[in-house]
Amino acid sequence: MDATPRLYASTPLRLNHTIETEVLAIDSAAPDPGVIARAAAVVRRGGLVAFPTETVYGLGANALDADAVGRIFAAKERAADDPLIVHLADAGQLATVAREVPPLAVALAAAFWPGPLTLVLPKRAEVPAAVTAGLDSVAVRVPRHPVAHALIATAGVPVAAPSANRFTRTSATTAAHVLEDLGGRIDMVLDGGPAEAGIESTVVAVYADGVSVLRPGAVPTEAIAEVVQRADPAATIRTGAREKVSPGMMAKHYAPRARLTYVTGPREAALARVRALVAEELAAGRRAALLLSDEDLEALADLAPALTASLGPRGDHTTAARRLFAALRELDQRGAESVFAIAPETMTGYARAIDDRLRRAAARVE
Ligand code: TXA
Ligand code: MG
Repeated sequence: MDATPRLYASTPLRLNHTIETEVLAIDSAAPDPGVIARAAAVVRRGGLVAFPTETVYGLGANALDADAVGRIFAAKERAADDPLIVHLADAGQLATVAREVPPLAVALAAAFWPGPLTLVLPKRAEVPAAVTAGLDSVAVRVPRHPVAHALIATAGVPVAAPSANRFTRTSATTAAHVLEDLGGRIDMVLDGGPAEAGIESTVVAVYADGVSVLRPGAVPTEAIAEVVQRADPAATIRTGAREKVSPGMMAKHYAPRARLTYVTGPREAALARVRALVAEELAAGRRAALLLSDEDLEALADLAPALTASLGPRGDHTTAARRLFAALRELDQRGAESVFAIAPETMTGYARAIDDRLRRAAARVE
């Protein structure tokens, strides 16, 4: 396999120097231990390594090194009040970052780790304030992706990793997306091909008496509810924050350059609304784009001059999740000025997460 480094450099706007970003190809199914060892060494010496996970690409640094964590915020131009997820090699290390692990957290970890679930728990003092944006809680996840797992295990430290995109932009689901946003700003990218789910982990705050789903994600909310109910039939299951809203949940996120209109409601009415809006755009000479299922694109085929991007077969939320962020980036690259998407018809599986991301990417929700 080709592990020859390719170097990538760009001139970032707000950093005073450019660094060389080494790109190493890696087999996602069977990561080369030599490549992993090089990446782990970068993490241990305080550098930044982007790597694939089963959700999206992460931008990793040693979570116990406040300077390294500071570099994540600088590279992404991320607001300092938006806390990071700490990634562990296995659930056994939970006590090194979390000061308390309520029984519901134990049940959720047993059900979904390794995997795309993030638990928000009371933090230990050893976790730098920079990681948690000064909060008394820490978000923790044990990823399932073999490259992510091998990197964290070999580095031997917890790895703080946000999604590997510029702040407020669409999450990166390929190494090319990472380079587009962060080339010249980070030390290394492990290119293991496209991320599997395409949508981020589900973030769940866990309390003694219940849970709050803070961010819908790759573990469906109904699957979380089932495990919580089984573990404690009296537990409460909320969506949204119990106290103050996590800064990362703020609206201005995942935004493409093009102006996104997200149309909700019954399908026929939504299609009619998109048809009218897009016809208006085209008449005004603007480059409008449709981000829809194959069936919906077919139904609007008469809007021929519009750019199109397919989210896959209608109702196939797994394919839609995998394609969503890449499609938004691609439409930007093709020069779309406005993008039109319609809401999933049933909120099962990844649909809730897709709906959440489109709402937050949208300039207008109808
Ligand atoms: O799938 C994922 O979760 C990816 C991969 C790389 O693991 N990571 C990711 O990180 O999406 P990021 O930084 O883009 O999103 C982390 C989310 C943010 O919305 C943040 O506000 C929330 O987790 N979060 C982190 N720490 C928190 C805390 N202590 N309390 C509440 N929310 C927290
Ligand atoms: Mg993110």
